[in-house]
Amino acid sequence: MKIRVSWLVLGVSLAVVAACSSQKEEAPVQEQLTLHEVMKDEVDVHADDLWDISNPALSDNAHLDAALMDDERWAQVEQKATALQQAALKLASLDPIVVVKPGVKIADEGVPYGDTGAEVQANVDKDPQKLRDFANALAVHAGDIASAAQRRDTERAGLLIGQLDAVCEDCHLEYWYPSQKVLLEEYGISR
Ligand code: HEC
Repeated sequence: MKIRVSWLVLGVSLAVVAACSSQKEEAPVQEQLTLHEVMKDEVDVHADDLWDISNPALSDNAHLDAALMDDERWAQVEQKATALQQAALKLASLDPIVVVKPGVKIADEGVPYGDTGAEVQANVDKDPQKLRDFANALAVHAGDIASAAQRRDTERAGLLIGQLDAVCEDCHLEYWYPSQKVLLEEYGISR
């Protein structure tokens, strides 16, 4: 009889331990970043840095002028392009893709043809995989800039940096302000 009681007690305490440890596992690991946060704090920042560094050395015909590129500037281009590549990969890995936290406003909402966060979320939910494909395309493009910088390839680096904006726009037109795409098509402007 005495033995049975202690088994019962042991059983209960084991159950408590089990409950506690399973509770720990269920605790939220880390709050997931929103698309807006990755875009604003990482993708845009690194791209702006990259443009700031390369623009002074960019000639009219979108070539980098070798005479204006020294080792330090090349190293910075490589570093910023690599950071941009990482940010793009982070964007591609978001799952699920949450555009904004409740109450957060995105740029240009409220201006004509500017979508709200909720509208962007609806655009994303229609085809999240395609957004990841665009993000991966940006990662590849940024990675190519980094390797061109490593090779000190002025032609290729200049060309790719000149094309970077269009890689951003491809995704923006699908997901951020698709109504502008319709507008561009109406005016017969093809990209
Ligand atoms: C894979 C898709 C995708 C790519 C690629 C992309 N963006 Fe975005 N971007 C978005 C979406 C969706 C929004 C709208 C949500 C928002 O504003 O946060 C956005 C919004 C922005 C905003 C406004 C942020 C704000 O304050 O609301 C900036 C600035 C921006 N992008 C810069 C860039 C630049 C620069 C690049 C290229 C180097 C780029 N984006 C590439 C999807 C993308």
